[in-house]
Amino acid sequence: MLVLGLETSCDETAAAVVADGRRVLSNVVATQFELHAVYGGVVPELAARRHLENLLPVIRGALDQAGVTLRQIDGLAATQRPGLIGALVIGMAAAKTLAYALRRPLVGVHHLHAHVVSIFLTDAPPAFPFVGLVVSGGHTNLYLVHGFGDMRLLGRTRDDAAGEAFDKVAKIMGLGYPGGVVIEALGAAGDPAALPLPRPRIPEEPLTFSFSGLKTAVAVLLQKHPEILVDPRARADLAAGFQEAVVDSLVSRAMLALEHTGCRSLVVAGGVAANGRLRRALAEAAGAAGAELFLPPLSLCTDNAAMVAALGHHLLQAGERLPLDADVFSRG
Ligand code: KG4
Ligand code: ZN
Repeated sequence: MLVLGLETSCDETAAAVVADGRRVLSNVVATQFELHAVYGGVVPELAARRHLENLLPVIRGALDQAGVTLRQIDGLAATQRPGLIGALVIGMAAAKTLAYALRRPLVGVHHLHAHVVSIFLTDAPPAFPFVGLVVSGGHTNLYLVHGFGDMRLLGRTRDDAAGEAFDKVAKIMGLGYPGGVVIEALGAAGDPAALPLPRPRIPEEPLTFSFSGLKTAVAVLLQKHPEILVDPRARADLAAGFQEAVVDSLVSRAMLALEHTGCRSLVVAGGVAANGRLRRALAEAAGAAGAELFLPPLSLCTDNAAMVAALGHHLLQAGERLPLDADVFSRG
């Protein structure tokens, strides 16, 4: 079964053709990175307009790369939630139109569940149940995953998402946008223990994340010691120390979730899962706990439509259908 997936929840316009929920025949992503970079973050109205311009060429590209025609597509999947409303509407309208014109079934996909499902596009996916951690620019969610249609939320962030913390700290440090890649590169030469930074915990909610205190700690430190920004060594130490605090928070809660659920497999996905330090720390911790770590390749960690098509395939197989008058939702 061939599924065409569309993803337009934030600032990537993406289309992909996936066979049987496993084989990626094409995975086209048009990033709007340069459009939003000057503003230091995604501007929703600009994102929606750019999706409108990009979507048809991206769909055409995905079909061409897969070597299939529209008529060969058996089903459609589009991100329905969570995301920017104006952006979601564009992808969903296109998917509804194609489903109606081609008389093919349509399904709406939860963007964060799709991030978890990206691991099923690799050669050796985990067996259910497993713990899934989605770390992106908008979300930091821990799931107990029993099946494609059964993901239970174990914990989330009460304020900023992990990726958002990277982006905001990069902005405070004058490093540009998006922050994750620049902070990782700068921190590579730094000492993560040189500048102690907090690791906020909420004792009564051990699986809840919180990153805004960490961001504030960086801002306060820089107010007191502006010289850090002009000293290459201190700048690298700050980037490394901040990254380490985020990594500690993510790894400790992921391990706790494994302990609480009795699961032996951990899947980590989303844009922040591209971070090399996080990948190494997770591998170490999972190894020490006797658990197996599953990480999608970098191209499937950031926003893409292959993960949407893959989850769409399984939901369509389970009989889910989205009516043509269905809405999109900003919240998860
Ligand atoms: O999943 P994603 O592509 O889009 C959302 O759905 O948000 O995640 C984007 C986020 C951004 O906040 C970006 O700074 C972060 O992922 N990111 C990273 C790295 N690469 C991207 N964070 C840390 N280290 C990286 N190497
Ligand atoms: Zn995402």
